[in-house]
Amino acid sequence: MPHLRRLRPWTLPERFVTPEPLVLGRRSFLAGAAALAGAGLPAEEGEAAVARNPKWTVDDRKLTDEKLATTYNNFYEFGSHKQIAKAAEALVTRPWRIRIDGLVEEPFEIEFDELVEKVELEERIYRLRCVEAWSMVVPWTGFPLRRLVELARPLGSAKFLEMQTFLDPKTAPGQRAFWYPWPYTEGLTIAEATNELAFLVTGVYGKPLPKSMGAPLRLAVPWKYGFKSIKSIVRFRFVDNRPTTFWEEIAEHEYGFWANVNPDVPHPRWSQKMEQPLGESEKIPTKIFNGYGEWVAHLYPDLRDPVYFR
Ligand code: MTE
Repeated sequence: MPHLRRLRPWTLPERFVTPEPLVLGRRSFLAGAAALAGAGLPAEEGEAAVARNPKWTVDDRKLTDEKLATTYNNFYEFGSHKQIAKAAEALVTRPWRIRIDGLVEEPFEIEFDELVEKVELEERIYRLRCVEAWSMVVPWTGFPLRRLVELARPLGSAKFLEMQTFLDPKTAPGQRAFWYPWPYTEGLTIAEATNELAFLVTGVYGKPLPKSMGAPLRLAVPWKYGFKSIKSIVRFRFVDNRPTTFWEEIAEHEYGFWANVNPDVPHPRWSQKMEQPLGESEKIPTKIFNGYGEWVAHLYPDLRDPVYFR
């Protein structure tokens, strides 16, 4: 939507904006507005929102309060407590260069804004279940991770996708803690990465992603514990061996590679049977695969093997 971008529709009077959907069709207009929002440009009230994908809603729970979701975070780069939102403001998210390499036809780097122009954004409401037993329900804006895999053109020999967060101890004081294996690294099998649920996030609550939640680009894999949903990604590397992830390196028996949500496999130090929705008084039962088994259970050959649930 390059000409929409030049026109900057949010700065134009209504009469100039209105013809756009007629010329382009509503779908492309929405995608254009979405690209602008996803790129972190200011969205004005009343501006066209990203189209919500009705397949991904959460009927039995309320959306988590926006203020709570954006200020109660795990982002160890900025501290090993939940109140990192202020500190995370130090993160500079433009320019934001993303490297795609490893077992691909041709490695390349791309600016975040350029990447967003190549994809179609949509909104999905997903649950997130943290391994610490709190949970939230949020409307993410983004695009399927499968789309990035397509753009990357991995070789047949690629079996896993490794993802990495930025490394900049000057900006992120948590990264000065030398006992952690920075940069934060996560990984998925190619089958997981191309599953329709795996989602790359550029926004939340109809706005660009706040820094506290991993701007400008983070992952959402809602059938896995929250630590798999890596924030502020700068690198996607296709590999043939299972990557060692950040938390696995710290405590492999507590936070393993697979980390599929399962209420029947306790964490070594606490039960996973129940979860505390942020902002609510009552705990609720945790569901296997966080309620997404229909889409992902087939990825795991032996569901009795606890290895898939750590
Ligand atoms: N990504 C990075 N780079 N650093 C982190 O510390 N924490 C993880 C995950 N992604 C983390 C991260 C954990 S433990 C959780 S539960 C979720 O982010 C929390 O996401 P939220 O703060 O948006 O709720």
